[in-house]
Amino acid sequence: TRVEYLNYEVVADHGWEVDDPDLFETAAGADLDHEDYGLFLAEPGETLLEAAEARGFAWPFACRGGACANCAVAVVDGELDSTVDNVLTDDLVDRGFRLSCIGRPVTEELRVIYNVKHLPGLDDLRL
Ligand code: FES
Repeated sequence: TRVEYLNYEVVADHGWEVDDPDLFETAAGADLDHEDYGLFLAEPGETLLEAAEARGFAWPFACRGGACANCAVAVVDGELDSTVDNVLTDDLVDRGFRLSCIGRPVTEELRVIYNVKHLPGLDDLRL
């Protein structure tokens, strides 16, 4: 799976909107650091968090077991399977939020915003 990622902190710092359809195009043209925006390939069977770490990225996490939401990402395109997610409310799941520590990419292409635990509305899920 080809994973295109963007750090929520950068989105917030630039005053960009998470639901802007051109968000990733804007980010691609913004000369961001590699840790904040870029691409990597996830191998079959890897969770998104494992895949990011295996390629040298330090994405947020705490429990690694689907119980804290520190690792939450917003899936903008594609799908991440998180069947044992007990933390995110149905509403958040409907809006595309997933847990990267248990979520495995199930589409060829994935666009995610990581670090979204700081997104208003997710703050209260943090332990
Ligand atoms: Fe705790 Fe993913 S690290 S839910």
